[in-house]
Amino acid sequence: MLRVGMLTSGGDCQALNAAMRGVAKGLSSNVDDLEIYGFLDGYKGLIYGNYRLLTSSDFSGILTKGGTILGSSRQPFKLMRTPDENGLDKVEAMKQNYYKLNLDCIVILGGNGTQKTANLLREEGLNVIHLPKTIDNDIFGTDVTFGFQSAINIATDAIDCIHTTAASHNRVFIIEVMGHKVGWLTLYAGLAGGADIILLPEIPYDIKKVVGAIEHRTKAGKGFTILAVAEGAISKEDAKLSKKEYKKKMEKSPYPSVSYEIAAKIGDKLGSEVRVTVPGHTQRGGSPTPYDRVLCTRLGAEGAKAILEKDFGHMIAMVNNEVRRVPLENVAGKLKTVDPNAQIVREAKLTGISFGD
Ligand code: F6P
Repeated sequence: MLRVGMLTSGGDCQALNAAMRGVAKGLSSNVDDLEIYGFLDGYKGLIYGNYRLLTSSDFSGILTKGGTILGSSRQPFKLMRTPDENGLDKVEAMKQNYYKLNLDCIVILGGNGTQKTANLLREEGLNVIHLPKTIDNDIFGTDVTFGFQSAINIATDAIDCIHTTAASHNRVFIIEVMGHKVGWLTLYAGLAGGADIILLPEIPYDIKKVVGAIEHRTKAGKGFTILAVAEGAISKEDAKLSKKEYKKKMEKSPYPSVSYEIAAKIGDKLGSEVRVTVPGHTQRGGSPTPYDRVLCTRLGAEGAKAILEKDFGHMIAMVNNEVRRVPLENVAGKLKTVDPNAQIVREAKLTGISFGD
């Protein structure tokens, strides 16, 4: 009998279901005696023993379905060692629930924080397989995370829609793209959507340069400008602040997000209106793209293979176009950011896109 647990943790994204299906099909096609337990709402389910036995019908028809059939929640890694409001030791509780069900392994789907907890459980002696999920694409050790390509499509669609209205009204438009503290999603959607200016957390901007780029377009007879701005974009001055100082500044800011601050600054300097569009959580929603479906089927299948070979403690990653097992201890806690000198950034600049630097 093979007993496998599964959970999805952190912000959801497209293709979580496709990845779980990949694992389940990879196992059920090769093992007769199999039980898969799904823990509900992320680590919460593992901590409090909320789970259900999943059957083949749970995994049927979910390749194309967004969200997660198990539900998800954020359980910050830094609080994992802090007892809950009733004094419960969360790590101990997770271990007990794992042992109670006599699991051979637990498959954990999630982003950076989730991965850190997965590694902690590995250190505590549990057999863990991690599958790298996030629209942010910021997990170190894998070329790509699932959800990223699907989110690029949605953010690009948003930019495409703004393009037509911006052109009709000769306006400056900002589209704020998700990505937490990294700029992958903004960079790719910005390029795919033909943004004129792309602002990323990794390349602090100078507002004078941003305004200069808009004026340059106006002089060239272009009546509108599209800016793709990462939700974590930061000015050169703010980048000099300590984390604490910046956090304080943001808390006091009258603007709902960085894009509105940038819009106000541009508006002041140009004396014209700047509109902001925030596609927000739509970027995490809907059906996964064919790319993500294929990626997840491959990662899931390899996850199943690792389980069958009893080779635990890995993230199943995509490295140089090959699916690989990457030891969790080598990657947990590391962030994959955009290199400001990366080829893709240099190419973008060559085509005239301004990064405001
Ligand atoms: O990590 C995925 C992500 O969508 C980020 O891009 C974004 O900053 C964050 O989650 C939003 O989190 P929440 O859903 O908790 O508002």
